[in-house]
Amino acid sequence: MKVERGDRRLLMFQEIEKGGSGEEIAEKAGVSRTAVWKFVRRLEELGYEVEVDRKSGYRLVSSPDPSPFHMALAALKIPGVERYYHFDEVDSTNRFAKEVSNAVVFSESQSSGRGRLGRRWESERGGVYMSLSLNMTIPVSEIPKVTLLSGLAVCRALEDYGARIKWPNDVLVGGKKVSGILSEFVGEEMAAKVVVGIGVNVRNRVPDALRDRAISLHEVDENVRITEIFTRICEQLSNLLSAFPQKWGEILEEWKRLSDTIGREVRVSLYGEEVVGKAVDVDADGGLIVVSGEGRRKVISGECFYTNY
Ligand code: BTN
Repeated sequence: MKVERGDRRLLMFQEIEKGGSGEEIAEKAGVSRTAVWKFVRRLEELGYEVEVDRKSGYRLVSSPDPSPFHMALAALKIPGVERYYHFDEVDSTNRFAKEVSNAVVFSESQSSGRGRLGRRWESERGGVYMSLSLNMTIPVSEIPKVTLLSGLAVCRALEDYGARIKWPNDVLVGGKKVSGILSEFVGEEMAAKVVVGIGVNVRNRVPDALRDRAISLHEVDENVRITEIFTRICEQLSNLLSAFPQKWGEILEEWKRLSDTIGREVRVSLYGEEVVGKAVDVDADGGLIVVSGEGRRKVISGECFYTNY
């Protein structure tokens, strides 16, 4: 499903959610009463429950989870986002997002979900698999900041669960990974398309082999809803992107406060090379500063292990 900003289906959906007669809804959304009736049938096919009363008209009683229309409304509030794509299954939302612009792409499952460092991302139904694709006129050197900002958005969205950020961009709940971010970009200096892919374990089962390191939110909150988590992430992306780049200093300070890595003994490996020492800081472009007997080193990417755990 594709929904663009200003789509009449969104207007009808909002009116049906509030409740009203077919005539009122049709007028407010600028469509015919038959169009409203047809849209209600479509909502029912998608799993929404709409009450129809001769006197009071239509009223939304319940929504499926995930709820494509609630999610479209949330995604289209992000500054710069013009369209929302909702898939039942796609190979990878990041792969798809590179082909479109100024969009949020969500899929209920992925057949070839991609993780960092060329890994696979398990993407069974029940998780949030989303990518934000934005054309940005920023220097390429600023792109890591967008990745950091996105990690903070997810961490804020999962605040109720006591989420923390493990460098470079994993979000942890109870010390286990609940979300990962894969940022990619296509284009050139000052004309880049930034794709931020976010995966969150929400109602999906974590594979047995990963259970000691990963967690799914339903393990700590049996009532958690995919729509709610997606909506909170979109709200936080909106807040932080509106403040970027002017308030970058404040964003970075908050990122550091929520960091689970600063202050720990770490081993960071990147393509066979290892840096071991104490993580003391994250610099303005997201590099981890590690101090050891050999001195101070900045690591820009890689996999981070805690050695004093
Ligand atoms: C990581 O390895 O920690 C990053 C995982 C990123 C997974 C997300 S799910 C949505 C988007 N589409 C993909 O193929 N990958 C990212």
